[in-house]
Amino acid sequence: MAQEQSAMLSNPLGLAGDAVGTNPHPIYQALRDNSPVLHVDGVGTLVSSWALVDEVLHDTDRFSSSPAAGDLKNERPLIPLQIDPPEHGKFRRILDPLFSPKLMKQREGDVEALVHRLIDGFVGRSEIDFVADFSVPFPSQVFITMLGLPVEELPKFLAMKDGIIRPDMVVGKPFDHPDVQEHQRATAQSIYEYFDGVINERGGVRGDDLMSHFLDAEIDGERLSHNDILDICFLFLIAGLDTVSASLDCFFKYLIDHPELRQVIIDDPEMIPSVVEELLRWETPVMSVPRAATRDTELGGCPIAAGERVLVMLGSANVDGSANPDADVPEWSRKIKRHFGFGGGPHRCLGSHLARVELRAALKVWHQRIPEYGLKPGAELTFTLGVRAAHDFPMTLGPVRDGS
Ligand code: HEM
Repeated sequence: MAQEQSAMLSNPLGLAGDAVGTNPHPIYQALRDNSPVLHVDGVGTLVSSWALVDEVLHDTDRFSSSPAAGDLKNERPLIPLQIDPPEHGKFRRILDPLFSPKLMKQREGDVEALVHRLIDGFVGRSEIDFVADFSVPFPSQVFITMLGLPVEELPKFLAMKDGIIRPDMVVGKPFDHPDVQEHQRATAQSIYEYFDGVINERGGVRGDDLMSHFLDAEIDGERLSHNDILDICFLFLIAGLDTVSASLDCFFKYLIDHPELRQVIIDDPEMIPSVVEELLRWETPVMSVPRAATRDTELGGCPIAAGERVLVMLGSANVDGSANPDADVPEWSRKIKRHFGFGGGPHRCLGSHLARVELRAALKVWHQRIPEYGLKPGAELTFTLGVRAAHDFPMTLGPVRDGS
């Protein structure tokens, strides 16, 4: 979700953004109960019921994902996120097979091995920062490896990601401050330059990595252009790293607060896929996604003007008890797992199968090796708005078991 929306959403109901990111359920309920379509001056229209979220996500004629919905200082629309159908479908036809459930499943062993390596780094420690030591490096390393780039580039990757997604925190000033805007703009340029260099350096060299597949991919007999590949890589950098880190932060906070669920995972690891799915629904790490109305229209009986920004509240729809029985309580062995944690409609997350492999591997290996862990006494976690990442996460660890 665009940081611009994230910043605007920070105070739609007169609450601090971090308070909403940390504990979103009361806000979701207030929105649904009082006004499932709520116009907020300077923000746009918030849409929060299951039925209306579903309607907006599927009606791409009326509700566009074009850059009008969110500006990240990118020069061209991000591919495929900011391209509307039917053109959007051309890119998904190329990208979907690269992220298929079968291919992602084949990565399971390597991903679990990476979790082991990261945990090996904690052996002998009784305290870590879960964010710095695990939730940030884990998905970033998976993704850098998939792209075929050297792991030593990780710090550069993280600086580029944070400079786009949370430049206000990097600079330490409010989001609309000119220095913050300039930092975001400069970061966007550095992303284009970095990937420009990567593509040019590759020349004709190919391997079994994503970059090689992008360079050889064709749509209707034509190769992806240099700019198409840049626009895909720009999106991947911001879509593939932060979302998984944020999900891990949300999940592990929930598991610390609910030891009974931790015990379920330890006693019966077969439950992990079901637990991951329900945590994605209940926690909804990506709280909302932006759209822009393409014409004067109405939604749920409320007028929406052409060009107006619409914030689709995925997290609220996911716990809308009026639409799905018992949606307002977590249920770990839930049979029907429909949720908008990965969005919905044509833009539904391309990386969902990879994300699941990563999240399941993290829960499985972590609980085999570190069944006892907790929040450092006295620490309080706060989560950012939009994509719900912890600022930091001081964690105490029981004994770390051998991984062999
Ligand atoms: C648990 C982790 C993740 C969550 C919660 C998540 C969530 C989402 C959501 C809500 C959307 C819809 C955006 C919209 O409708 O505007 C989306 C789209 C997308 N995600 Fe993810 N995502 C995750 C992981 C990943 C990963 C690992 C990748 C890496 C490949 C990825 C790549 C994408 C892409 C490329 C899109 C755009 C799809 C399109 O426009 O057709 N995501 N994601």
